[in-house]
Amino acid sequence: MKMWEGRFSQKNAPAMERFNRSLGFDKRLIAEDIAGSVAYARALAKAGLLSKNEAAAIVRGLDKMRSHPAALRFTAADEDIHMAIERILSERIGTPGKKLHTGRSRNSQIALDTRLYLKKEIYSLDAALRTLMRAVLTRAEKTTTVIMPAFTHLQKAQPVLMAHYFLSWFFMLERDLRRFSQCLVTVDVLPLGSGALAGSAYPIDRAFLARALGFSAMSDNSIDAVSDRDYMLEFMSCAAITAMHLSRFAEDLVIFSSPGYGFFELADAYATGSSMMPNKKNPDSLELVRGKTGRVYGNLVTLLTVMKGLPLTYNKDMQEDKEPLFDTIDTLDGCLEIFTGVLDTLTVNPERVAAMLSADLLATDLADALTKNKTPFREAHAIVGRIVRDCAQKGVPLETLTHADLRKYSPRVPGTFSFCYHTSIAARSLPGGTGSSSVRAQICKARTILKRKTYDI
Ligand code: ARG
Repeated sequence: MKMWEGRFSQKNAPAMERFNRSLGFDKRLIAEDIAGSVAYARALAKAGLLSKNEAAAIVRGLDKMRSHPAALRFTAADEDIHMAIERILSERIGTPGKKLHTGRSRNSQIALDTRLYLKKEIYSLDAALRTLMRAVLTRAEKTTTVIMPAFTHLQKAQPVLMAHYFLSWFFMLERDLRRFSQCLVTVDVLPLGSGALAGSAYPIDRAFLARALGFSAMSDNSIDAVSDRDYMLEFMSCAAITAMHLSRFAEDLVIFSSPGYGFFELADAYATGSSMMPNKKNPDSLELVRGKTGRVYGNLVTLLTVMKGLPLTYNKDMQEDKEPLFDTIDTLDGCLEIFTGVLDTLTVNPERVAAMLSADLLATDLADALTKNKTPFREAHAIVGRIVRDCAQKGVPLETLTHADLRKYSPRVPGTFSFCYHTSIAARSLPGGTGSSSVRAQICKARTILKRKTYDI
């Protein structure tokens, strides 16, 4: 017998029962569902709707379910986790169990469970992101003297310290961390007490519920509380941005560990072979991180589409929120774990990095030298452009040009100028630049960020 069958004279078609059922995936919310019911039973007792003994029986029954989840026998008639828990409780403890749903609706229950679940997941994501950031920082700390070419358009651009490069990831991830903590503000709101949509007809102490369940705020409007899934969408948007970042870092590592570059080598633990070509060692870990970004974006678009144009308040369409949400959480967890592993075990080949340095990376420095010697930058740019073009035409590397050669293009080339990567880097010591002092300051800041416990979460 289903809980809502009173109004019905015929059974659901078996296909309808299967189609309607969310238990297969929402059983993941069992701990949250039970926690919500424990708090709700106490609130009912506080409001005089349950005797002390009845409330105690409910709490005992729920606690037992929480500690022995394997003993829970679900049936085909259990539509979702809420109905399953209530049914099993009622079967086990009798009448008090049948009073638990007084003034409560699954519409507020599901909003409660997913908010509780998401809060927990945001904390664990915060920890996973910090672990990755620590791995990134360690890489930066170990590469403060390695000079590498940096790229725009995948063309060699300018020399930077490899530490500076890794720190760029750190600060991107730091913003991800902050975004998730900001999202927590939206998530951390108690919806329970909203009834089905209009609020509860019973004097439920919602402030008590919020305290008992660890929420910082309670919803201001019952219609809003059961209707919206923006808290999930906000989380999934944050996840999409983080996945985008990870996909770019992964792609950089794929490129930099490819034979043409050889800057890095992946540990065997994070690479795979080919079933046919014995010579292959492929960066599948990174390719999967890159590829799984598609799922994270897809999940966001799925839920945005499910929610689009839905009339207020609750509609069953919204049951479609959980699978993309859970998949996003699982996918991001996996990506963060794997990426951290890849980074922790990566080998850096400084000789290969150095082998890719060439004086064309210093063309901007030559233009800067002219500019500092009273040539307007635009003219300096054109002069150096001609030098680079002539070298390319003659097939001679820029670094082979003598001072006298350079002076033929402009008498303003200072006598002190030489093609030097260290000088180029040292010149960029302003805050945020690749100069050693700036990189040291960034490392200090990064360490402080990781020491700070949380962003208010
Ligand atoms: N299983 C439902 C969901 O995930 C719970 C809420 C059901 N509410 C209802 N009125 N049918 O959305």
